[in-house]
Amino acid sequence: MEEIKMNEKNPSIAIDGPAGSGKSTVARLVAKKLGFVYVDTGAMYRTVGLYCAENAVNLENIDEVAKALEDINIELKYDDGVQHIYLNGKDVSSAIRVQRIAEYASKVAAIGAVREKLVEIQREIAENGKVVMDGRDIGTNVIPNAKAKIYLDASVEVRTERRCHELEEKGISFDKNVIRKEIVDRDNFDKNRKINPLTIAKDATIIDTSSMTIEEVEDRIVKLFIGEVI
Ligand code: DC
Repeated sequence: MEEIKMNEKNPSIAIDGPAGSGKSTVARLVAKKLGFVYVDTGAMYRTVGLYCAENAVNLENIDEVAKALEDINIELKYDDGVQHIYLNGKDVSSAIRVQRIAEYASKVAAIGAVREKLVEIQREIAENGKVVMDGRDIGTNVIPNAKAKIYLDASVEVRTERRCHELEEKGISFDKNVIRKEIVDRDNFDKNRKINPLTIAKDATIIDTSSMTIEEVEDRIVKLFIGEVI
């Protein structure tokens, strides 16, 4: 197994959990509060998914996906703490936020070659320390030596409500039952894939955000982190 370098002077925070558990919003706030870099790893899988969608890559053919990876260059840039993701030089931060690409992301994330490439980039970023990284396998695989490991969860009902609310705000019409099914299906796929599925790290703190405000979750994570390092 590849050696994962520990950064004890500049510890990091790993946040994992299913879609809609509030990871990204909270991770961004925690990073801002602590002056850390926020890394949304889901955006990287979405970017590979976007490339495959745009270039009609057959996701059933692992060799074809592995070949496509050679043509994919991903860069993260930050604007006032907000992560922007670039695919071959183009900012795709908005383009990756649609449901079709979420599904592509979940599918490519089950392919070993894709995970290898993206985990390598993620570990390189984490080596400098002081990151708040969110995803599905951060505490279990990407930075298993993170000082604070959080597993954020929320009921399917609450996550469905949150997603519907987001779509409402964007003026996009939706069917709540379809949204619920999309969430459940993606959870099942991410939890049951063979390579680095979404699981709870043994030493993670589980926070159920169903009846918490974003600020409460943020505060809890910051306290957990500070409690661990001081
Ligand atoms: O967090 P998100 O919804 O943007 O993630 C999109 C997909 O990427 C998700 O369904 C599973 C995959 N993913 C993963 O397998 N590992 C990660 N560390 C992050 C995301």
